[in-house]
Amino acid sequence: MSALCSPDDAVAYLKAGKLVALPTETVYGLAADAADGGAVAAIYETKGRPRFNPLILHVLDVHQAQQYGQIEGLAQALMDAFWPGPLTLVVPLRDNAPVASLVTAGLETIALRSPAHPTARQILAAFGHPFVAPSANRSGRISPTEATHVLAEFRDQVPVVDGGPCPLGVESTIVGLLEDKVSLLRPGSVTPEDIKGVIGKPLLPPTEKIQAPGMMTSHYAPSNPLRLNAAAPEAEERLLGFGKMTSPPALNLSEGADLKEAAANLFTYLRRLDESPGPIAVAPIPDKGLGIAINDRLRRAAAPKPS
Ligand code: TXA
Ligand code: MG
Repeated sequence: MSALCSPDDAVAYLKAGKLVALPTETVYGLAADAADGGAVAAIYETKGRPRFNPLILHVLDVHQAQQYGQIEGLAQALMDAFWPGPLTLVVPLRDNAPVASLVTAGLETIALRSPAHPTARQILAAFGHPFVAPSANRSGRISPTEATHVLAEFRDQVPVVDGGPCPLGVESTIVGLLEDKVSLLRPGSVTPEDIKGVIGKPLLPPTEKIQAPGMMTSHYAPSNPLRLNAAAPEAEERLLGFGKMTSPPALNLSEGADLKEAAANLFTYLRRLDESPGPIAVAPIPDKGLGIAINDRLRRAAAPKPS
């Protein structure tokens, strides 16, 4: 199988019940036809993903989303404000929604996202149905932001549509909407302040009734140890910098301390530092706006891995 493929090939693969990796504005996704149980099962198998961890349904627009989720007041307002774009909404699943049961991992809710990336949208439009797409990495590892990352991750097993580097670099914000309560399940480029601006009230933390099963403590994990909030590197450490640094960093997420630039570079630079052995130290990142999402990913990347 040739490793790279065109958007037209991607549509043919989806129709044939095969997996294909494709670019979105956040990270590369591993896509399959959401209605095809065999194709969805292959996603879990290829990623080594636990079956209790549900997938995000990628739709063209609100109209398509309505076939799958119960979309009311606040959900509608958030979709109008941020779609297409990096906001995923978890809403009650509609009865008889045409999705394989593995998509929701048996939950009574479904995660819906309408990606903004032109290639993802071109494929959605030509396919004519939604696809599910987790990040195209093996479970627990760093999300891919370039086609070469996906090729390395799956050793050429999965065809990839190359759309260049992903402009945002961290996965979508996930918000849960249940009984008029709005909770932040995963921080991302759409910030809590952005959401508050639309719903007129602050976001709640995840509750027992609604949380993202995939937000396990250890995630996005490099092979090397990672130390956070490091002012300067110690002995063997290579420093991942942010802003002006007193000791020269191995790589700098953003010399101008721009959070957008830092988010776009985050996973690529973590991967690059992880190519050679030795501990990694990361400079402090301000915990506001997009910095909340960056720090969330860094904390999970630094957390002890399950043995
Ligand atoms: O930016 C993104 O969202 C990327 C691109 C490819 O679109 N996708 C992505 O998918 O990050 P994934 O599978 O890596 O992360 C999906 C997260 C998981 O933490 C999962 O537990 C959560 O969404 N999720 C999915 N369905 C859910 C549901 N019904 N209720 C709560 N959480 C859900
Ligand atoms: Mg993921």
